[in-house]
Amino acid sequence: MAKEKGVRELEDLPGIGPTSAEKLRAAGIDTLDKVAVSFPANLSEISGISAEKAKEAITAAQEATTVNYETAGAILKKRSDLGMISTGSKDLDELIGGGIETDAITEVYGRFASGKSQIGFQLAVNVQLPRKDGGLEGGVLFVDTEGTFRPERIESMAKKAGLNPEKALENIVVVRAMSTEQQMLTLERSDKLIQEKNIKLIIIDSLTSLFRSEFLGRGALNERQQKLNSHIHRLAMLANKYNLAVYVTNQVMDNPGLMFGDPTTPIGGNILAHAATTMLYLRKSKEEKRIVRLVDSPLKQEGECIIKITPDGIKD
Ligand SMILES: Nc1ncnc2c1ncn2[C@@H]1O[C@H](COP(=O)(O)OP(=O)(O)O)[C@@H](O)[C@H]1O
Ligand SMILES: [Mg+2]
Repeated sequence: MAKEKGVRELEDLPGIGPTSAEKLRAAGIDTLDKVAVSFPANLSEISGISAEKAKEAITAAQEATTVNYETAGAILKKRSDLGMISTGSKDLDELIGGGIETDAITEVYGRFASGKSQIGFQLAVNVQLPRKDGGLEGGVLFVDTEGTFRPERIESMAKKAGLNPEKALENIVVVRAMSTEQQMLTLERSDKLIQEKNIKLIIIDSLTSLFRSEFLGRGALNERQQKLNSHIHRLAMLANKYNLAVYVTNQVMDNPGLMFGDPTTPIGGNILAHAATTMLYLRKSKEEKRIVRLVDSPLKQEGECIIKITPDGIKD
């Protein structure tokens, strides 16, 4: 059907107006892919359109969506194009197999002041370096959900790394997200920016704080996980499509009384564990020292190393 050519959003589907689209989104059916795999009766019940119309909408969604078939050989070739961003510490780079990988999500979790943001700042500088120096000559999209982004830190780290500090700051696009909606929209609309600024690193600092404050209590847990899941899915998609690295932080609660279960479990639990390709647990040691534990990785052995947070940045 010719009119299905331009189907990009739920509203573009036949029989789906703004009201029924909203109802679908509210029920978690927020992509064409999800409509494409729905049952007519279910879709009709949720959106209030007839089962007949629901069938048409599903067919249109199926025609508008694609499945990306790739041979294993093509994937191997793509993996050989993978980039690595140095963390600033040789020991940490070695622990995680050379640095923070592109086409992957790296999650760092730990308590307040364990150094999650500092590592983010260092990566935002290092990604701009030439490949031979541990960078990808790329820009950064930095989503700051806690108001803790510090350009002064970028300046001093950039100087130390031999970059022009002003240029280094220009290469980092910062979004201060105040709600989960803003946080999610930033990624939904980022395609153009990623291409124009050659973004090679997306940082979400922190991934979970807004979700935690907006969805309080056990009752909201399902909705929170659903939204977080779709957000992470989008991150993984961008990482793959643009061969870029994703670094997300996740604060472990200091007050175990507020949590159910293990107090050193990151917020988001299992869903994040499956999505994050590399998970690092950061904890304080003496003075400027921090212990980094590689918790989970598809290719690497678990292990630990020690890094230092210095005025010049992350060091061995
Ligand atoms: N300019 C600096 N020089 C040396 N260390 C610093 C500097 N700024 C921050 N730090 C260190 O980083 C810590 C804060 O780390 P941060 O990444 O903000 O923690 P998190 O994001 O995990 O809450 C501080 O407690 C301090 O030890
Ligand atoms: Mg922080």
